[in-house]
Amino acid sequence: MTHLPKPRGPLGVAVLSALVDVPTREVPRIDLAPGSSEDAALTLWVLHELSYGGFAEVDDRAEREPELMRVRRRLEDDLEASLRGRWPGVPDAVDLETGFFDWVASHDGPSLARHVQTEATEEQVLDLLRLRSVYHLKEADPTTWVIPRLPVAAKAALVELQYDEYGVGDPSRLHAGLFARGMEASGLRPEPGAYVDEAPVEILEQNNALSMFGLHRRLRGAAVGHLAAFEATSSLPSRRMAQGLERLGFPAAMAGYYTEHVEADAVHEQVALRDICVALVAEEPMLERDVWFGAWACLDLENRTAARLLTSWGVAA
Ligand SMILES: [Fe+2]
Ligand SMILES: [Fe+2]
Repeated sequence: MTHLPKPRGPLGVAVLSALVDVPTREVPRIDLAPGSSEDAALTLWVLHELSYGGFAEVDDRAEREPELMRVRRRLEDDLEASLRGRWPGVPDAVDLETGFFDWVASHDGPSLARHVQTEATEEQVLDLLRLRSVYHLKEADPTTWVIPRLPVAAKAALVELQYDEYGVGDPSRLHAGLFARGMEASGLRPEPGAYVDEAPVEILEQNNALSMFGLHRRLRGAAVGHLAAFEATSSLPSRRMAQGLERLGFPAAMAGYYTEHVEADAVHEQVALRDICVALVAEEPMLERDVWFGAWACLDLENRTAARLLTSWGVAA
């Protein structure tokens, strides 16, 4: 089971200490501002996690504590405001159905997969796998929240896509499980959350945005837009990751997670765009704006993560 990570500032200290006291002591009012973006991101990650697997040290009733919900709401509002503040807006004269993939391709930022393919060291790849595990060990879960919020055609398509992510009925094929086995074979810890303490703010924000989009009906357009951009930037990078892992002699189980995604995500990107995003916008045209916003957020947050990691490894981003 997941253990609580270390707080990164005064807000995290207050929230984490209140969490472990639920339900024996009432959660006090917490009006502290986060001490830094790290403090905000880690605290929000912890609060979201209460709605996934929870923590060994925390009673499940903490999920609906009003004061903790109030803190979560404040942190989510700040995250959403900062993303919307950076967003350049809906692209001019790009048709969602016919122009989306070209639009994604035109956002080519620094690529971690390209670095792994050709020149990353084993240490750098281990670093990357530890940080990616924050998401991959609960792969697809944040998007599952969206299912009941979609009209029927988009809902059917999303369930079909998630069925793949969850192993087509075979528990040994869940993508999260494939990643866990790859980590174990690579000498890494496969328990969810094991490496959250190492995660830079960019990784936490990627995960937080995904959970925020998934957990709010209001943001369902952004959630499916994010999904489409995520799937559209997965197939080719997955091939590069697999090649890099093979180049460095990583176990077949780790490379296998990525080869699984080469073909799967070439299909998923089509389903996510045409059968989910376009189908949703056909029913609810006012959501198109947020579909673009979510797609942009996915690309922007990944670019920030890539720049951060490449810089930390001394590679020009
Ligand atoms: Fe997957
Ligand atoms: Fe996928």
